[in-house]
Amino acid sequence: MPNWLKDAVFYEIYPQTFKDTNCDGIGDLNGIIEKLDYIKDLGCNALWINPCYDSPFKDAGYDVRDYKKVAPRYGTNEDLYRLFGEAHNRGIHVLLDLVPGHTSEEHAWFQESKKAEKNEYSDRYVWTNCWIQGVAGHPYIGGEAERDGCYMLNFFKCQPALNYGFLNRTESWQLAPDDPACIATREALKDVMRFWLDRGCDGFRVDMADSLVKEDDENKSATGAIWKNIREMLDKDYPEAALVSEWSNPHQSLKSGFHADFYLDHHGNGYNTLIRDNETPGGDHSFLKKDGNGDIMRFLLDYLPKYDNTHKDGYISFITCNHDTPRARRTLDYDELKIAWALFLTLPGVPFIYYGDEIGMRYLDIPTKEGGYTRTGSRTPMQWDSSKNHGFSDADPDILYLPQDPSEDAPTVEAQEKDPASLLNVTKELIALRHKYTDLQADGSFDVIYAEKEQFPFIYKRGNLLIAINPSDSKASAALTEEAYIDKDDKKSTKLTPVYSIGEFKQEDNTLKLQAQSFVVLSLV
Ligand code: GLC
Ligand code: CA
Repeated sequence: MPNWLKDAVFYEIYPQTFKDTNCDGIGDLNGIIEKLDYIKDLGCNALWINPCYDSPFKDAGYDVRDYKKVAPRYGTNEDLYRLFGEAHNRGIHVLLDLVPGHTSEEHAWFQESKKAEKNEYSDRYVWTNCWIQGVAGHPYIGGEAERDGCYMLNFFKCQPALNYGFLNRTESWQLAPDDPACIATREALKDVMRFWLDRGCDGFRVDMADSLVKEDDENKSATGAIWKNIREMLDKDYPEAALVSEWSNPHQSLKSGFHADFYLDHHGNGYNTLIRDNETPGGDHSFLKKDGNGDIMRFLLDYLPKYDNTHKDGYISFITCNHDTPRARRTLDYDELKIAWALFLTLPGVPFIYYGDEIGMRYLDIPTKEGGYTRTGSRTPMQWDSSKNHGFSDADPDILYLPQDPSEDAPTVEAQEKDPASLLNVTKELIALRHKYTDLQADGSFDVIYAEKEQFPFIYKRGNLLIAINPSDSKASAALTEEAYIDKDDKKSTKLTPVYSIGEFKQEDNTLKLQAQSFVVLSLV
């Protein structure tokens, strides 16, 4: 386990829309380098950059044409190596996005794989052995290749599935996961990882990490075995490199070698019930929505078994949002967002802040771009200041990669920096708090002190810190049990002293009284 992950607070950057330095309307690596001081000042000490490789961009870069080449629109490989160096100079680690399940249909491997004549790449992708026979239960394409067969898709039409084999085989063309051709796919992936790790990259966020072996068992044991093999390589040759999965099943991912796994927004899961429960008929019952009448138990019943079962293996990552998810500002106001970020930044695991969420950027209802569809509204250009294009780019507004928030009160970094109570400044304080107290970091203990069905507040302990949160629009109070006062080191009962708060609170005897929409951290001394 790379030690630096314990205190990591990630910042996710969508390179298209972070900062444009050459006036073509699209963000670039030099733009990220220019803003590293901002990221450091925010308190983030790690980055995840969405795919920045050569691509026809039919899925915003998740259709990789060349794994080892930076897309010219973002700069050159040298720019990326410089970015690694500049980030490291500031104590910032950099994760790239690894797309192991598929490539672009324009990737050189696929061009070879399509040929009629058998070659090294013929089995690099999943092909049936007859032009008119498809892949049962999966999307596939026929009629496009010289060779006699149909190929399987992993996501969009532009993304043929790489071949890691089938665990349960019913057709003669399905290869076993230990077939030399499937092992070759895995080794090619390791070669790509080594390429970037050797040049200064600190690890990977892994796209659709569970999508490798097909007809895998329900525990994904065969896909897991591939990741265990990859983790062995990391432990041996790159022990400081981090592996974070897009899997959202910590029982599987963290036991297969991942250091952290995202808790993604899946309808009705614990994460969804905290800030995104807005698709349920009858209104938004998110716990962090002030008038949602939410229920913390919906979160805990999902999260606690996951946490209990996996916290010795790795970390569950809370995200403010990501490039696939509607921004939380769509349904939450600034005050609600402050409480939400306060929760995410004081839970165990490794937190991820999506660019722009620190200022509460809006979700925009705009037409699709590069396969984004409803996701496009979360991918708009960062709003830095009040200058042209909110400081994102000097280009003509018509050629920006995506339009910007047209509202008069569109949040910007510049404006929020001046306001001590802004979401930006509160986010900075929360991140600083997390760095200051090791108890708040990824591997610090987590114990629930007060959580009752449909009641507020929610009180939990992280090591020797007691944290209480009342996201509702009414005041709330709870009696503290003896456990709340027990020092984790000498096991004695002790006093609680406030170290941070949003909103008012009072401690009266054993009762903690919280004003509407408040958050407090108390330390056992
Ligand atoms: C992941 C990415 C998403 C992409 C898909 C296919 O879910 O986060 O943006 O479209 O995989 O690669
Ligand atoms: Ca540019």
